[in-house]
Amino acid sequence: MTILTNAEIFVDGELKKLDIALEEDKICALGRNLEGEQRIDCSGKIVLPGLIDVHVHARDLKQSHKEDWESLGRAAIAGGVTTVFAMPNTDPPLDTVERVRDYRRRAQASKINAKVYGAITLGNYKNLEQIAPHVDAFKLYLGETTGHLSVSDKKLHREIFKSVTQTEKILTVHAQRGGDPQDVTRHEADDICYVLDLAAAYKTKLHIAHVTTQRAVEAILEAKRSKVDVSFETCPHYLYFTAKDRESRGAWLKMNPPLATEEDREFLWWALQEGLIDMIATDHAPHTIEEKIVGYAKAPAGVPGIEFLLPLLFDAVNASKLSLGRLVEVCCTNPARRFGLTHKGEIAVGRDADLVVIDPDREKTITRKDVGSRCGWSPYEGLTLRGWPVMVFVGGLKRNPPCAALSNERQN
Ligand code: NCD
Ligand code: ZN
Ligand code: ZN
Repeated sequence: MTILTNAEIFVDGELKKLDIALEEDKICALGRNLEGEQRIDCSGKIVLPGLIDVHVHARDLKQSHKEDWESLGRAAIAGGVTTVFAMPNTDPPLDTVERVRDYRRRAQASKINAKVYGAITLGNYKNLEQIAPHVDAFKLYLGETTGHLSVSDKKLHREIFKSVTQTEKILTVHAQRGGDPQDVTRHEADDICYVLDLAAAYKTKLHIAHVTTQRAVEAILEAKRSKVDVSFETCPHYLYFTAKDRESRGAWLKMNPPLATEEDREFLWWALQEGLIDMIATDHAPHTIEEKIVGYAKAPAGVPGIEFLLPLLFDAVNASKLSLGRLVEVCCTNPARRFGLTHKGEIAVGRDADLVVIDPDREKTITRKDVGSRCGWSPYEGLTLRGWPVMVFVGGLKRNPPCAALSNERQN
């Protein structure tokens, strides 16, 4: 049995000074002065449930030069993430039972909890019941993005929503229809209304990926009021950057959907703190430096993000821009509930021992040489953040985030 002592633990919506006992892969006790053979002193630290990121591109297969499961696992641990949902726009895509099974086997190299999306393609949409038992959720691309998996026929959309409902799985949608994906901010809300209507008509459990604008968020909230079964995520890059930043930094800030306005960015922070945003997911979409420096038009869309997820949000907690309770809701409790991870997302007896131990006062500046993701760069280079993971437990096994080894570390 391992005991974490002297920490402030986030339990039942607040920080409490309690010991946590871990037995194998579970939390087996919470209390004062717990006894156990291995004791880890966590004085001055905060312990949260491990973060759950429902939108990552782990690549691997023919795109291992961008990322593979081993490097993704390291980047996740650095960002305090213990569970990921991997997107199926791999090469080759995850649209058959064999590929999904093989991808799950590969995912073991990450040593984190890996959930796998199945892609809905023109090749498999008629037989979703075959692949359904093998996937954790389904993904549908309405328009072009990395991977060329888009399905644009409206008649097929109706069939797909109907079939996914029968599988009882969540359908996550990349809701950008047609045109240049870099020019969708204007019609993001319309595209999202289109899928909300389909979800309403077919009673589908819908999750909307990477939402960026105020109008889109308001459309989703309106649908929720009409009892559409929908959830959505926004991503750290939409909280940190705007279209103005993209003008100066070019392809380094090219992603789908593109960055929105300063008003949208401010709205997202406000909505986040108000509890109106269901989840923060990173849309960690690694592409290498060589791939990104070929000019804006040719460069692939996508930015890495999982590696700095916890510090990006904890820094906002330190700045009183976000409450710790909201951070835990959008990164732990809500994703666990929505995606059916009944043993995760909270620190409680009997739950999985997935934990992140944070030094709330540790401050670091992100530099390129600190990046562990195979892509080798980060849009957050140069940013100084306060509050970093110093220890992570996945199923009771201790992992050391690399941040302790960062060169420019300053301990307060
Ligand atoms: C993603 C990728 O590179 O896989 N890119 C992106 O710009 N977000 C694909 C996606 O999520 O649309
Ligand atoms: Zn997408
Ligand atoms: Zn994505």
